[in-house]
This record gives sequence, C-alpha cells and structure tokens, in this order.
Amino acid sequence: MSKPHWRPARASDLPAISAIAARIHPDLPEGPEVFAEKMRLYPDGCRVLAAENETVGYGLSHPWMQHQIPPLDGFLEKLPHDADCLYVHDVAVLPDFRGGVTRAYVAAIEGLARSSGIAALALVSVYGTRVLWERLGFRPVTPDAALRAKLTSYASATYMLRELAK
Ligand SMILES: CC(C)(COP(=O)(O)OP(=O)(O)OC[C@H]1O[C@@H](n2cnc3c(N)ncnc32)[C@H](O)[C@@H]1OP(=O)(O)O)[C@@H](O)C(=O)NCCC(=O)NCCS
Repeated sequence: MSKPHWRPARASDLPAISAIAARIHPDLPEGPEVFAEKMRLYPDGCRVLAAENETVGYGLSHPWMQHQIPPLDGFLEKLPHDADCLYVHDVAVLPDFRGGVTRAYVAAIEGLARSSGIAALALVSVYGTRVLWERLGFRPVTPDAALRAKLTSYASATYMLRELAK
C-alpha cells in the first residue's frame, strides 16, 4: 500500500470530509457548508490525506487574527485583510492512518504562512491534544476574558500559538 499523502482538497472531497468529521468529532458537529466556505475562501490551507482508494483525513486552515477564535460551525464570511496568523481550524485523521501526518500537514501550513508573510500559526486544542501540539511547537496562551468566553463552546479547550522564527 502506498503511503497516504496530503493533497489540495477539492469540492468533491466534501462528503468524505463531512463523514470523517462526523466520526471523529461527534461532539463538535459542523455542517458541510461550513467546510465548503473555508475551502472556497482559502483553498491553499485545505488539504485531504489521500490513501490508495479513500480519503482518510483532512486539515483545514485559514488566515485569521491572533487571540481570536472563529465560531465553531459558523461562517467566516470573509478573511481579514490584516491577518497575523494562519489558524488551524482542524486536523482529523482516521485512526489507522495516524503517525507523522499531522507533523507533515503543519510543515506545509508553516511554508504557506511564511510565503504569505504571516508570522504565526494558531489553533484551539481539544480532547487533550495539548501535548501533541506542543511537540509541534505550539505554546498555550493565557486567555483574556473575551477569549475565555469563546473557548467555553469547545470541550476542554486551550488556545495555542506558534510564532514562526525568521
Ligand atoms: C490529532 C491527529 C490528527 C494527530 O495525527 P497524528 O498523525 O497522530 O499526528 P503526528 O504523528 O504527526 O503527531 C505529531 C506529534 O505529536 C505526537 N503525538 C501524537 N499523538 C499524541 C498524543 N495523543 N499525545 C502526545 N503526543 C502525541 C507525535 O508523536 C508527534 O511527535 P513526534 O513527531 O515528535 O513523534 C489525530 O490524532 C486525530 O485525528 N485525532 C482526533 C482529532 C483531533 O483531536 N484533532 C485535533 C483537534 S485540536
């Protein structure tokens, strides 16, 4: 079996992305139109993990503002003109295909950020994935009141940032 690889997501990947999301994130449901909007607004950040005959994971990122969290299962409407981070909305991979693939996705997103003049990556860590993201260079940020209020819609969530060295 050839190794799964990341490739740009296409509109035709939407059913597979939704199916993986429903399986991996049953407690954080998001509609397919919400994924579709991200793919339309920022296709470069939206990738799927392609195995031999199936899609086994996805990663979705888009430019955003540090210390701000887009609404879960909500539309971005538009991307900020003065974005100062690439926000990793989600990475989800079917269990049999894990191991090294998130590191590869984050490396690709880091390259994208650098080539766009964006100096940080951000995300909300859920399900005790904080240590995983720390291994990938992210650091937890102490939330102010506004950020804390937004984090309550996620399960045991930590906002994390990774500054990209020049
Ligand atoms: C998150 C997820 C995509 C990670 O995929 P993966 O292929 O296992 O990720 P990687 O192997 O690239 O992990 C990156 C690093 O974190 C480490 N890591 C992986 N899982 C870990 C865990 N549960 N705890 C601590 N570290 C972990 C890896 O060893 C690796 O470090 P290394 O390269 O120094 O060895 C996968 O576990 C998943 O789909 N989980 C469910 C969805 C989810 O929680 N998404 C994140 C929401 S914030």
